[in-house]
Amino acid sequence: MANYLGSAAQFALDHLNQRQLHYSLLLSALGLGYGSSWLNQSWSDEALNHGTTADFDWDKEIVLVTGGAGGIGGEIVLRMAQSGTRVVVLDVMELTYIPSSNIYYYQCDITDHEALKRVAQRIRAEVGEPTVVVANAGICRGKALLEETEHDVELTIGVNTLGLLWTVKTFLPSMVERNHGHVLIVASVTGYMGTARSVDYCASKAAAISIYEGLHTEMKHVYKSPAVRISCASPSLVQTKMFKGIKPVAGMVGSGMRPSFVAGKIADVLYSGKAQNLILSRWALPPGIMRVLPQWMRVHVQDRAASSLESLDPHNPMASKL
Ligand SMILES: NC(=O)c1ccc[n+]([C@@H]2O[C@H](COP(=O)([O-])OP(=O)(O)OC[C@H]3O[C@@H](n4cnc5c(N)ncnc54)[C@H](O)[C@@H]3O)[C@@H](O)[C@H]2O)c1
Repeated sequence: MANYLGSAAQFALDHLNQRQLHYSLLLSALGLGYGSSWLNQSWSDEALNHGTTADFDWDKEIVLVTGGAGGIGGEIVLRMAQSGTRVVVLDVMELTYIPSSNIYYYQCDITDHEALKRVAQRIRAEVGEPTVVVANAGICRGKALLEETEHDVELTIGVNTLGLLWTVKTFLPSMVERNHGHVLIVASVTGYMGTARSVDYCASKAAAISIYEGLHTEMKHVYKSPAVRISCASPSLVQTKMFKGIKPVAGMVGSGMRPSFVAGKIADVLYSGKAQNLILSRWALPPGIMRVLPQWMRVHVQDRAASSLESLDPHNPMASKL
């Protein structure tokens, strides 16, 4: 191999002028980049889907979206319903849009496991068994930890972590039984790196990423249901009422993505029938890398973003529970 590469380099030096040499090097680098990205994509695809194929019949699938009354969840509901899919919404809030006839709304607080089990029975009787679940409901109190009441912390962990676990425990068993279905967890890039004034929120999103990774491996090794897709979507800032008042930070936190854009990407994952671990936007600082970069780099990024949540004024869908 080394001999072959040496002869190729010698041939290039002997026969190409400098400009041609530069073009050849550039083309080789592009080819190498494209080739390795293609290999990476296809190996990841194989691993995330446990080497199995899965058929989704969208005339029969029932999609359930927690927190689908508005924001990102609402856009996912509208996008999929417009494509003719039956969509069930679970939310504490009333719908913020007029539902079409293939949207079924159930008011439910996902932190209450018993209430969730009861509403699941109603959904099964009235609509059918959900085969695709988007665990999207979330809450952010937007305060520094020492300024938060115990109840603020309980709400954040209650909705974002316990509510997520209860959702999965309620709707995953039937998917496992049939080795068919898709659970997509909406986490956040804040799950990869803590930010000031959202310590409990970041912790809850780190937990969501762990739940995603753990469930993905349990699907193959514990439940032997490798065709059930487990996906995760971790957006950076999205323009919803959750992060109202966030301050832009040059080069880092822009004005945010539109919820319809994020919803479109999530719907694409579901309609593809393939599991993905999505980080949005494409330009978001690759957050996973932060864990292996030198510590000073992480602290530098945290320093730059430190004031971004100073004037946060999130809405509170759980106001009645305060
Ligand atoms: N907006 C962002 O910048 C951003 C970034 C990354 C991740 N996320 C995540 O995206 C998801 C959607 O957030 P969003 O930005 O659309 O905010 P949002 O507040 O508009 O939507 C959250 C939805 O969850 C519902 N909800 C809250 N508590 C609930 C409960 N106990 N039971 C049932 N429903 C409940 C709310 O009523 C609301 O409809 C959340 O998980 C959030 O953490 C948001």
